[in-house]
This record gives sequence, C-alpha cells and structure tokens, in this order.
Amino acid sequence: MQKVLLVCASPRKKSNTMQVLEECAKEIEQNGLEAEIISLRNMNIDSCHACLKCAKIKKCKIDDGLNEIIEKIRKSDGFIVGSPVYFGTARGSIMAALQRIGMVSRATDKFLSWKVGGPIAVARRGGHTATIQEMLMFFFINDMIVPGSTYWNMVFGWAPGEVEEDEEGLETIRRFGNNVASLIKKIKD
Ligand SMILES: Cc1cc2nc3c(=O)[nH]c(=O)nc-3n(C[C@H](O)[C@H](O)[C@H](O)COP(=O)(O)O)c2cc1C
Repeated sequence: MQKVLLVCASPRKKSNTMQVLEECAKEIEQNGLEAEIISLRNMNIDSCHACLKCAKIKKCKIDDGLNEIIEKIRKSDGFIVGSPVYFGTARGSIMAALQRIGMVSRATDKFLSWKVGGPIAVARRGGHTATIQEMLMFFFINDMIVPGSTYWNMVFGWAPGEVEEDEEGLETIRRFGNNVASLIKKIKD
C-alpha cells in the first residue's frame, strides 16, 4: 500500500500541530493510502556535523533516532512536515532534522527524489509564511513534488485545541492531504 509519513515538530503533548497533522492523515487515509505520524516530542535532534560520513556508511553517524525516521521516509511515497512557529521561524529541531535527512539522501541514493509532500505551519498569530518558506527549501532542493492547496498550509491556534476554531485553515490542510494522496496515486499509475 502507498504510504505517507508525517512528522510533527512540536514538543507539546497536547499539540495543535499534531491535531492538524491528524486531520491531514485522515484525508490521506480516505484516499486509500496509509498514513503514519511521527512526533519529535521526546527526541533530541542534533544538527548536521558536516562530517560527510553519510556518503560512506549510508546513514547519519549521529545516533539520536533520526536514522530510524530516515528509513521510514525511504519506504514512504509521501513526506509531510508540520512545525509550530517559534519566533517567526520553524522549531529548531525540525530544521536540524530536515538538513540531516537531505544530506543523507543526497550523499546516498537520492531517496527523496519524486516523493510528494510539503510543509505545514501552525502559530498563534504570525510567522507562518516564513516558516513554510524555510521548510520548503528542503523539498525543492531534494527533487520532491509539492502540491498546492486552496490557501497556504497555515493554521492558527495558540492554546491546545485552538486550531479547531480555524475551519478555513483545517480545510486548506484537508485539501493539501487530498492533493498529496491523489498525486501519489497518479504518479504510481
Ligand atoms: C518559544 C515559542 C515561540 C513562539 N513564537 C511564535 C511566533 O513567532 N508567532 C506566533 O504566532 N506564535 C508563536 N508561538 C505560539 C505557537 O506557535 C502556538 O502556540 C502553536 O499553536 C504551538 O503549536 P503546538 O501546540 O503544536 O506546539 C510561540 C510559542 C513558543 C513556545
């Protein structure tokens, strides 16, 4: 079965980003694909050491759990990342993760090539577009396919659960999930 992996960058147990990703995953499943959400909540993701060892050992030399996520991405057809906005940009750990995932892909078999997906940003008030753009750099440099939606992939909310009130934001994310799933099905036809 075709699969989409979704990564949630929030450290919070009751996370708005997780809620948004769950909506997205539901839509993907309704299209007949498998969806799995992974949280970075209990992980301490280090930044790339620029050692270039990945070219030789075919994985990242840092042993902090990211290699397990990389293996899941490798086996998936789609990859979606959701991050809360922190001071106008993505949470640091997701950028550290994306940079290392990209490095391993580029230094090995370019497994990210033609995977379908994109970024989602969740915030109380501002910084969504900069956060989306920051994460988009990963998708575009790694030969990935990013579909649009009916608005940008942003949802508003501060306290846990508040994203439920942003119906337009959630509808944008549902549409995005539908577009990711539909594209994967078309590519694999
Ligand atoms: C350190 C920190 C920085 C934040 N910076 C912003 C910000 O720049 N803009 C904004 O609108 N919200 C900001 N917020 C609020 C969060 O983005 C918001 O609460 C979001 O719903 C958190 O998502 P989560 O529940 O998935 O962690 C910040 C929150 C924290 C903890």
